[in-house]
Amino acid sequence: MAGTETSLNAFETSHVEQNGPVTDKKMRIGIIGTGWIAGAHMKAYLNQPDVEIVAGADLIPGKAEKFFSDWGVENVRCYPSHKEMLDDESLALDAVSICTYNRQHAAPTIYALEKGVHVLLEKPMCVTTEEAIEICRAEKKSGKVLSIGFQPRMDENMKMIGKICRSGELGRIYYIQTGGGRRRGIPTPFGTTFIEDETAGIGALADIGCYSLDMVLNAIGYPKPLTVSGYKSAFFGTDPHYSGYPDSKKAEYAGKFGVDDFAAAFIRLEGDIILDFRIAWAMNINTPGDTIILGTKGGLRIPSTDCWNGTVGGEMTLYHEVAGVQTETRIPILKTNGNLFELKIRTFLDACKNGTPAPVPTSQILYNQAIIDGIVRSAEAGREIEITIPEV
Ligand SMILES: NC(=O)c1ccc[n+]([C@@H]2O[C@H](COP(=O)([O-])OP(=O)(O)OC[C@H]3O[C@@H](n4cnc5c(N)ncnc54)[C@H](O)[C@@H]3O)[C@@H](O)[C@H]2O)c1
Repeated sequence: MAGTETSLNAFETSHVEQNGPVTDKKMRIGIIGTGWIAGAHMKAYLNQPDVEIVAGADLIPGKAEKFFSDWGVENVRCYPSHKEMLDDESLALDAVSICTYNRQHAAPTIYALEKGVHVLLEKPMCVTTEEAIEICRAEKKSGKVLSIGFQPRMDENMKMIGKICRSGELGRIYYIQTGGGRRRGIPTPFGTTFIEDETAGIGALADIGCYSLDMVLNAIGYPKPLTVSGYKSAFFGTDPHYSGYPDSKKAEYAGKFGVDDFAAAFIRLEGDIILDFRIAWAMNINTPGDTIILGTKGGLRIPSTDCWNGTVGGEMTLYHEVAGVQTETRIPILKTNGNLFELKIRTFLDACKNGTPAPVPTSQILYNQAIIDGIVRSAEAGREIEITIPEV
């Protein structure tokens, strides 16, 4: 079981509970990039009573038109790129969802912010730290809301990890092991935009590694990353015999593969905290291990999943001492009230309407991106490097 479709389905929950619009004003939305994830955005937007989809763009001729027609939404003005759309529509738009592939995250986001439009940008934030800084600067200058599309944040189990870390139950946290992986799960169900360098730029690291990092960094308050010793490889993706590719596509996909399918790193964080990380789209083992968070008073084990997508894989266990007795406390799986994608869209809309902070702010995700970029640069240099993050 693997692949992006499975990953998305894992976020489907039983029913949707609206938090309700904050005002009656309809939000006029544009969708940039009408590929696979744009469908999840559409589905969520169409369930909001205060949303009107007014414009869309895709580089592939006719793709945006077909997308909106397939969703049964009429009178959406379609454009051949984000630029034409924002040049024509900025006054008619309140917000955009940016659903383009990774290498096309920075340019449309910066352009939309410059045009005075709120942005919900899909994860990963972008490809390089430099791009991330440019995005943060454009956001600061614009005064608009920019939120990054990490829907696992909306999951009650994810929130529980943060509550446990902040409760003091673990004492002083000094070591974290995180990551995840799939035996055969290079995402190619809809083509090659995830595996080509010119569209994706980064592979497993950006696709699912960003979730693992966010799970633990958000829980401990996103300390600044200081140094990283990283490794990456691509043994499976470049193999024309890779069993995860369809038979008719093996040679083509292997030839196009230009990103990582495995990465590992040893990261030092501010506060003398060590982060030990590994991520895989493909590997010859079932899991690279559970996430563990070690503190001076307690330890937390968060089970991994067989198709890593940023969810908690089962009951968490808290290892601590009670009255001097070594004790294990099970944390039952919590139910999230609503669908994670709809909560991601709703919390973004509410922030735009209320002028409140972005639900998943760039001030945090900048560090996530700097770690990913640091792993890439360290791996290429073959040694530990310092992570330097310019002022925004
Ligand atoms: N949050 C999640 O669970 C989740 C799941 C899957 C994908 N994603 C993210 O969403 C992004 C897109 O993934 P996808 O699977 O939909 O990719 P995709 O390749 O199916 O779709 C991307 C579309 O964007 C278009 N595009 C690229 N640049 C453009 C531009 N400047 N203007 C207009 N259109 C442009 C492409 O032509 C393509 O149709 C990726 O960054 C991925 O990491 C997030």
